[in-house]
Amino acid sequence: MSRLPSSTEAIPATGDVPRHVAIIMDGNGRWAKKRLLPRIAGHKRGVESVRDVVSACISRGIPYLTLFAFSSENWRRPAEEVSFLMGLFMRALEEEVSKLDRNGVRFRVVGDLSRFDPKLVELIARGEAQTAANDTLNLTIAANYGGRWDLVRAVERMLAAQPDKRAGFVEADLAQHLAMSYAPEPDLFIRTGGEQRISNFLLWQLAYSEFYFTDMLWPDFGAAALELAIASYRERERRFGRTSEQLKGDKAPAGGGRETWQQDA
Ligand code: IPE
Ligand code: IPE
Ligand code: MG
Repeated sequence: MSRLPSSTEAIPATGDVPRHVAIIMDGNGRWAKKRLLPRIAGHKRGVESVRDVVSACISRGIPYLTLFAFSSENWRRPAEEVSFLMGLFMRALEEEVSKLDRNGVRFRVVGDLSRFDPKLVELIARGEAQTAANDTLNLTIAANYGGRWDLVRAVERMLAAQPDKRAGFVEADLAQHLAMSYAPEPDLFIRTGGEQRISNFLLWQLAYSEFYFTDMLWPDFGAAALELAIASYRERERRFGRTSEQLKGDKAPAGGGRETWQQDA
């Protein structure tokens, strides 16, 4: 597998449309509470937003979408809510994988699957296998995922594969063992629900992502809201450590450059 560019080792190409959008889908419980419904009603409704955003990414030509569905800390929730979420995940897999496949979506799950019901693990494996040849959209669901879990596991895997790295290693040695080593770093990170925090999501990969926070609750989020986030992303000046003047200097000879992917590393 060829190595993907790293935002710290080189200056990545940037463009008008993010290549990778990573979303913390937050606010399901509050959405339900506002309607005097049980929290689980919000989770159920949230699945519709997932459908909407997946199809918006396909029509927008966004090649990578990553959705945080369950964090390694969400086990701390009441047992009934956790078990409802597991059931919902299972049903969504049963009902949606064929449709994802028909639409050219490659589906993957990242996270520690060891705590999941074997039936759920089996459904995930089947979904990943069924869609493995697709490349229109790379959809990743982060389930029982934690950024710290990912980093610790990457170190373990690296040292198991190359014990000599104990003496010293560089970023790329470690990065290739992260759960999402197949994807470019997220260009755009979105969190719905009003909180402004990472909650142990992709700690390594968010190093130079553009952050977009919205008060909108996840069940209300959809194609139009995604469009607003992309519009905000387009206004950002991604400097990767350089000065604004340097960027303007770079762009002049390339003819403006914001329309196209610019490889200026
Ligand atoms: C996000 O919505 C879904 C999961 C974390 C599984 P929440 O359930 O966190 O909703 P709020 O934040 O309580 O409103
Ligand atoms: C983050 O949401 C995790 C997911 C959306 C899956 P939480 O609702 O669990 O985050 P905190 O607890 O408010 O930080
Ligand atoms: Mg929440």
